[in-house]
Amino acid sequence: MRRYLIYRSRRRFLHLGTMSLASLAVATCTKQPATRTTETTASAQPAQLPLTPACDDSDLTPSQTEGPYYTPDSPERTSLLEPGITGTTIILTGQVLSSNCAPIARALVDVWHSDAEGEYDNVGYRLRGHQFTDDAGYYSLETIIPGLYPGRTRHFHVKVQAPNQPVLTTQLYFPEEPQNERDRLFQPALLLAVQEIDDGKQATFNFILPAG
Ligand SMILES: [Fe+2]
Repeated sequence: MRRYLIYRSRRRFLHLGTMSLASLAVATCTKQPATRTTETTASAQPAQLPLTPACDDSDLTPSQTEGPYYTPDSPERTSLLEPGITGTTIILTGQVLSSNCAPIARALVDVWHSDAEGEYDNVGYRLRGHQFTDDAGYYSLETIIPGLYPGRTRHFHVKVQAPNQPVLTTQLYFPEEPQNERDRLFQPALLLAVQEIDDGKQATFNFILPAG
């Protein structure tokens, strides 16, 4: 029961956190209202232009290689933490949006990554799991920060799929990683926004998929 209460508490925290993320998402998905002023009439009131969605095809989340360590049919879960897994806890949250900025409910978000030593579990499903976004398009995953392995910078692997739409396979990267510039797969468009929280870190990323 205690574990359940803790889980509920954490979910509430995350929900509150994502509420602020919702505001952020709206902010990032809308251009600031442009203003027109009449330079020749000092008393004229600025006229606000209509808000224009900034999500469009140019903002689509880039696809990246799946890599050699994907395992299908991962368990459905919102935490990859389990006994024996060590490392810095990180909460990965965000929204899945369409290119017209509409949240996508019931979108698949499947994450897999290396452990703190840079090793993948290619036999079982440690540090692998999928979930579906809620009605507002949000996902939230509790896991650890992946370790480095030769030839790659720090990253998550992700598959995202809106219902009845093609799968987007991509990777997410961490800011201020020395290996980013030396990793030929690294793309700034796939950088997480990372911040410290009480018991680890929180990272956010909004996926933008083609409108169905
Ligand atoms: Fe990898």
